Amino acid sequence: MAYVVTAPCDGCKFTDCVVVCPCECFREGDQMLYIDPNECVDCDACRAECPVGAIFHEDEVPDQWQEFIQLNAEMAAKTPPITERKAPLK
Ligand code: F3S
Repeated sequence: MAYVVTAPCDGCKFTDCVVVCPCECFREGDQMLYIDPNECVDCDACRAECPVGAIFHEDEVPDQWQEFIQLNAEMAAKTPPITERKAPLK
């Protein structure tokens, strides 16, 4: 099981989440971040850090954002790690 980054991150990228992750499982896309489900240890540290509520446990992703579970897995495999905070996109 893993945590999942969903739609509110798209075009936002606050990156508060990456600095609390103990396993460096965040990956950076152009418009949003992704969590590598193979690296996530289910610690729950990131969820509360996101100011726009983009992060959910895989079991609690709202219905309209279910596609992000697969998207995180696919995109995490082809985007680079991010471990330091950056300026948000907006
Ligand atoms: Fe995105 Fe929220 Fe992290 S907007 S970059 S999931 S703090």
